[in-house]
Formats: sequence, C-alpha cells, structure tokens
Amino acid sequence: MLKVGFVGWRGMVGSVLMQRMLEDGDFNGIEPVFFTTSQVGQPGPDIGVDVPALKDAFALDDLKALDVIITCQGGDYSKAVYGDLRSGGWKGYWIDAASTLRMADDATIVLDPVNRGVIDAQLASGAKTFVGGNCTVSLMLMGLGGLFEADMIEWMTSMTYQAASGSGAKHMRELLNQMGGLRDSVGEELKDTSSAILDIDRKVTAAMRSGSFPTDNFGAPLAGSLLPWIDSKLDNGQSREEWKGGAETNKILGLENNPVPIDGLCVRIGAMRSHSQAFTIKLKQDVPLDEIEDRLAKHNEWVSVVPNEKDATIEQLTPSAITGTLQVPVGRLRKLAMGGEYLSAFSVGDQLLWGAAEPIKRMLGILRE
Ligand code: HSE
Repeated sequence: MLKVGFVGWRGMVGSVLMQRMLEDGDFNGIEPVFFTTSQVGQPGPDIGVDVPALKDAFALDDLKALDVIITCQGGDYSKAVYGDLRSGGWKGYWIDAASTLRMADDATIVLDPVNRGVIDAQLASGAKTFVGGNCTVSLMLMGLGGLFEADMIEWMTSMTYQAASGSGAKHMRELLNQMGGLRDSVGEELKDTSSAILDIDRKVTAAMRSGSFPTDNFGAPLAGSLLPWIDSKLDNGQSREEWKGGAETNKILGLENNPVPIDGLCVRIGAMRSHSQAFTIKLKQDVPLDEIEDRLAKHNEWVSVVPNEKDATIEQLTPSAITGTLQVPVGRLRKLAMGGEYLSAFSVGDQLLWGAAEPIKRMLGILRE
C-alpha cells in the first residue's frame, strides 16, 4: 500500500484536493500521513480512515519514509525541502501544486487528459517529480486540447480574464470587501430609483480612489475595475504569467524543441474562482468550423462546445455557470475577419479544480494504476 504524505492540505488548493479525494474515495487503499508546519502532534483530519497524528512538515526522516509526497504548501516549502530530500537519497514521488519546480529538467508537468503520453514516457524513464501546471495553461489545454492533438495550431494569443482565487484566499476576501465598499458608498442613492446615475458613478469612483478602500492585497481597486498585470515583469516586457502560457504549454505537450508560439495579455478581473480566456488562433490550414467543433468536443469528457449564440453563451460560458464544476466549456467559435485560418474561441474553467487540484489528484491515481 502506498504511503502518501500530504503537506498544505488545509490551504485553499489543498482543501479542494481533500474534498475531491473524499468525493472519489481516493483515501481508500493508501496509507495517508498528514503533515503540518504549525500543529505537530494534533489529530489528523477525519477522512474516513485512520490517520496518525500530524507530523512536522520539515522532519526529513518522516518525509523520507513516504512513497509519495503531495504538497500544496507553496513554492517556499518546495524550495526548503525538496533539494534536501533528493540529495539525502529519497527516491519517492514528489507531486507538487507550486510552480517552483515546474520548468526543472527532471520535472514533468501533469495534465493527463492532455499529456498522458508524456507522463507515461517520463514514468517509464524513471521520473519521480510531477508538478501541476499554471492554472490558465491547464484550463486552456483542457479546452483546446483537440486542436493541439491534431497539430492544427500555427500560433495563438490568449487574452485572460483571471479570477481573484489565482492570487489566493486573502485576495478573494479583499475583492468581496471592495465590492461591498462600492455598494455601501451609494446605498441611499440606490434605494431611490430616480437618483442620478452620474452622481452615483462619481461617488463610487471617489470611494474606489479613497485611501480607505481595501487594497492591501491587490495593491489597487479590482472591483469595478481590472488589473492588466499578473505576477512579476520579465526583461522582454512580458509578465511571468504571460511567459508561462508559451513555456508551460510547450513543456506539457513535449514540444520544447519545436514550440508553438503562444503569447498574450493576462488580466485580473473581479471573478471569484473561474478563469476565462479569449483566444485568437492561427490555424495551419483553413479547417471547416464543424470539424473544429467536433475535435474540440471529443477531446476529453470535461470539455463542451457552446454554440456561438448569445443565449447559450451567457447561460453556459461564464464563471458563475462553471465555478465549482469540472466542466470546461469552449464557445465564441467563429472564423475571424482576417481569413479562414483565423479562429476565435473563449473558454472558462474553475481555477481551483482543473486549474490546480484535479491534475494533482489524478497523478496520484496514475501512480496507483
Ligand atoms: N498564477 C495564477 C493566477 C494562479 O494568478 O491566476 C496559479 O496558477
């Protein structure tokens, strides 16, 4: 029976992972051990099977006793522990939700509905380090997998509409506090349906710009606004989030030596936990739209094609429709005015499920096959 250690299981991604594992009975047939950075010796979580008391997440000897370590603790933890474990001779499987190790040569980015072949080849060659991809990248590939599989894409841009959850739990709270602050700034005026909308707008804008508006986490107003920058700046002017679109996609697909150019703009918007993305895709050939839709829909069991109609789009292709589900709808599919090789598409997916926890959960499943 695999002895599997869990680190960072109480955070946001870790909690979603625990919930998904419980839903699917994944704790049956493994020996789970839970680790903590602050509550050593306290009872482990109630997961329907006996678990030992919480162990210290920095106790290398306890970690070395494991066959598999799954960490959602974050990049600093991975940096602090992973190197010492490996240099200390540990040969177990490291499954990580953080980005720190993603691009390392010995790490495989996992998204098995898209790259099961790459994962299997890496396992066969003795790879032991498996890392979840960036959320926008994973969600893009779950949606557009059919086009990549058929090698139909010459290049692609991705313009993202990323939810607050991608920044963390505190940011989600701040977004809601910002939303509430805006509403409260014009509570009286809203009661009066004849009040002047431009007065309301002026007050809302003043509230957003005031020193008391809660911006500690985002650094600027997001509610009623947007933030066209995510993560740090690279020398070429890309944000790191934008760089990941091309770098990680090609690594996931095993195309590092012949990469598909992918670039775009990453934007934070006031959605809670589902990322949306608009794509401009240059196809290698002028493929008919019905063939494109067919390939997209058949690629995996979670993707669906939303008809390019207004009612279907606003009903099915939004964060509010998708959040909390594993569905990845793709819609707004049409050929652009530039010609038959230019395709537009729009997708939505839950940032914490396929964007974070699900590929990790499924990697453990692959190890158990
Ligand atoms: N970097 C992503 C975001 C989340 O900020 O939305 C993690 O993949």
